[in-house]
Amino acid sequence: MPQNQRIMITNPFIINGDIPSEYFCDRKEESKKLIQMLTNGENVCLMSPRRMGKSKLIQFCYDQEPLCSDYYCFYIDIFHTTSLREFTYTFGRQVFSTLKSKSQKMALWFVQALKSLSADFGFDPSTGMPKFSLSLGDVHNPEFTLEEIFKALEQADKPCIVCFDEFQQIANYPEKNIEALLRGHIQHLGNANFIFSGSSRHLITQMFYSYARPFYNSTTSFTLDAIGLEEYTKFATYWFNRFSKQIDPQLIAQIYQVMERNTYYIHKTLHELFENTLEGETCDTNLLPRIIDGMIEEQSNGYRQMLSLIPDRQKEVLFAIADAGKAEKIMGTQFIRRYSLPSASAVQSSVRKLMETDYVTFFEGVYSIPDVLFRMYLKRIGGKE
Ligand SMILES: Nc1ncnc2c1ncn2[C@@H]1O[C@H](COP(=O)(O)OP(=O)(O)O)[C@@H](O)[C@H]1O
Ligand SMILES: [Mg+2]
Repeated sequence: MPQNQRIMITNPFIINGDIPSEYFCDRKEESKKLIQMLTNGENVCLMSPRRMGKSKLIQFCYDQEPLCSDYYCFYIDIFHTTSLREFTYTFGRQVFSTLKSKSQKMALWFVQALKSLSADFGFDPSTGMPKFSLSLGDVHNPEFTLEEIFKALEQADKPCIVCFDEFQQIANYPEKNIEALLRGHIQHLGNANFIFSGSSRHLITQMFYSYARPFYNSTTSFTLDAIGLEEYTKFATYWFNRFSKQIDPQLIAQIYQVMERNTYYIHKTLHELFENTLEGETCDTNLLPRIIDGMIEEQSNGYRQMLSLIPDRQKEVLFAIADAGKAEKIMGTQFIRRYSLPSASAVQSSVRKLMETDYVTFFEGVYSIPDVLFRMYLKRIGGKE
């Protein structure tokens, strides 16, 4: 964030929006590694469970040298897109607005390169400034426009880094050839490198690690792990102290464990604890259960909505896995009997669906619910806690 836009921070544990670098916790090794991969010309598949810190890491790297000076860095969040047309539109728009923030000349050059779109959309006649007054409906031939965008990147006067965040979304587009189409463009580009980032382990793994899929073997994989407890302790202690507050390192360790190392949930808990600690005081350890209750309460409408869309059969299995925590041999007689489930084959088909929607993950023989707060909620309403 530029210096002059910085607002007075009253809570150093930022849970919404951009994170100025002094409030960004650790990620020294990860950012070094990611920058190195990109500047070495690799394409990267960045993976982690939701809210571990992928998007923030990417933004952080974009603000570092040499990326911030010597490259054009584009960040395209495609989570909300549902078709190739929307993908192309979002991509074009974002490239334009990033270029515009760097150089008017490049922004104008870019709109002029998109010949498939109406020629006069690049100028605001009243100001003479370049603008992107295009709407989704103006993208009549997305495949063609997409090709023009890639061609423009290839000819840009600096190397380009493009991140497609929540990339697994393309698997939901109605068009069937998207992976092959994008892979075809990307492999021919010499002036651009890509980050494909995603939270859906299931979809991303299939897309990048299945032999038959176009993206197979095309990227270097980078799995983003949690921030270490030691780093978190240093960070949290520092910021509490800077505001004349104290926090017991043991409490930080407890949060870290309860929140299962999830960056957002740890940060959100610290945010709330910080807010509820007066200047000159030490954070009260007894606040923690209340704050967790509040977080679950805050999410409960969304969770209820989610559950209402899951068929009963799958829900039974979901509740059983939530209760078990780390569930093994879920198709075995013991598990089925314990949770009164219908049959091994019913459990199998339910869990497959639950994994497709990422409510459940499977790792080394163990099924679990990756969203720790959702699991706490399920346990509560399942009446087992
Ligand atoms: N290095 C960090 N320092 C401070 N907070 C972070 C950091 N990484 C992530 N966060 C917090 O976690 C939240 C989720 O991070 P985000 O990058 O959006 O996760 P992801 O993209 O993996 O889903 C952020 O909004 C922020 O509150
Ligand atoms: Mg993200």
